[in-house]
Amino acid sequence: MELREVIGRRRSIRFLCPHRPVELHKIQRMLEAARLASHWGNVNSLRALVVERDKASQAVLDALPSPVGGYQIQLAPVVIVWYIETAATDHAAERLRELVDAGAIGYGDRKREVLEQTLVPIFERIGDAVKLPGLGEIDCGQGIAQATLVAFEQGLGTCCLGSADPDAIRRKLGLPDSCRVLVTQTVGYPAESPEAGGQRPRLPFEELFQLNAYDSPFPRAPEVVAELERDGMIQALAPLPWREAELAYLRKALELEGEGLI
Ligand SMILES: Cc1cc2nc3c(=O)[nH]c(=O)nc-3n(C[C@H](O)[C@H](O)[C@H](O)COP(=O)(O)O)c2cc1C
Repeated sequence: MELREVIGRRRSIRFLCPHRPVELHKIQRMLEAARLASHWGNVNSLRALVVERDKASQAVLDALPSPVGGYQIQLAPVVIVWYIETAATDHAAERLRELVDAGAIGYGDRKREVLEQTLVPIFERIGDAVKLPGLGEIDCGQGIAQATLVAFEQGLGTCCLGSADPDAIRRKLGLPDSCRVLVTQTVGYPAESPEAGGQRPRLPFEELFQLNAYDSPFPRAPEVVAELERDGMIQALAPLPWREAELAYLRKALELEGEGLI
């Protein structure tokens, strides 16, 4: 499947097969993809604690969030708690030196010397400001997105879940103070159809993107849209006609009747 089609077909999958374990090598591929994502200054602040439902202690299971539709955590054979290690930025200068040695930054013959005089002092001055929510979260989001696509490629379903109190999760899981829990991602084999009811709605393209000036919407060429529809990146919008029947079936099969479902 081409990348465009992968992007088009990936859905948040909320209904997972609770009885079917997920092989750890599949989770490893997700983590490998996350590790390779871009990070500012190459600081690599994205971390993850992988929780296997059938092996984790009750204390760890109890630490996981019960967000809207708490049934999602209950169904998931694997849950990945993605978090940021803000202390990673303490080593930004070292990461920069590695980047220069790797030839990623074009400083020529005096590369180390130039680096020590230019970028390193800037990074040292930035200090704790870069530990606040912001740039680091963007890096982490890129890593989580790559892991999500690799999960899909391997036939897995995932859904990211926010939490009202991420710091409570951090404390209960015993993560250091320097860490911030970002999002919890359920992982398993989908119990729902791959379409999962169709492609989810988005705000209109023209409302989101501009070209050259803020008051100038980026022109959306219909021939590009037609091409992406042909390639499977833009798909039939949800809800497909049979979605409600599928949801009723899933609730019954997974014994979710009475739960607050979304
Ligand atoms: C950071 C993040 C947090 C999310 N939190 C939740 C959540 O708490 N509960 C939930 O059901 N879905 C959650 N989602 C999934 C979104 O609702 C979903 O991405 C959106 O509805 C679009 O659907 P799609 O991913 O299938 O395109 C979250 C997604 C992201 C990226």
